[in-house]
Amino acid sequence: MKFFIDTANLNDIKEANDLGILDGVTTNPSLMAKEGITGEENIINHYVTICNIVDGPVSAEVISTDFEGMVREGEKLAALHKNIVVKIPMIPEGIKAIKYFSGKGIKTNCTLIFSAGQALLAAKAGATYISPFLGRLDDVSTNGLDLIAQIRLIYDNYMFDTQILAASVRHPMHIINCAEIGSDVMTGPLSAIKALAKHPLTDIGLAQFLADHAKGNN
Ligand code: E4P
Repeated sequence: MKFFIDTANLNDIKEANDLGILDGVTTNPSLMAKEGITGEENIINHYVTICNIVDGPVSAEVISTDFEGMVREGEKLAALHKNIVVKIPMIPEGIKAIKYFSGKGIKTNCTLIFSAGQALLAAKAGATYISPFLGRLDDVSTNGLDLIAQIRLIYDNYMFDTQILAASVRHPMHIINCAEIGSDVMTGPLSAIKALAKHPLTDIGLAQFLADHAKGNN
């Protein structure tokens, strides 16, 4: 399973990248605003900075909600760097835009997926990735992991190339469960990625090894 980090925070991106296990980055307009990145020029520059840190797909989201606007924005974003993936919302105009970009060989990530039907449509339009938001489904008492499993089944039935990018990941168990289901990618915060490495028995065991080594060297 590929690991993407879901943030526009450059320190977090660098820290995850330095671990050597990072495959890509996803952002969204809220994550950009959270880092104080506003205005078209700053946003564009930020995407380029991220692309220069991580050698992997970087999702950059369009703001337009009409086909022409999405195409205009998406083409501009895609021209910024070879690793840019144009992130497009799951709305009818978005499906048209995904189909258009797919014909042009431009990679897309269909975002705000909350149902299997939406995932099916995006795959038929040729999306490179689809982002089911599992944490946000959990937030409304609906099992987000069930949706990932349902999409996995449908995509396998028809051998769709579209990759399932489990999004809105909140904690390490989400990551483990996504890996069990066979999600192609997961995107989550640095905290969830780092939490995978933590185990109290590892800490206790290491402390003991170091203490014993120190005794032997006294
Ligand atoms: C997906 O690409 C989104 O950026 C993201 O995963 C949303 O997560 P949230 O529900 O934690 O905001």
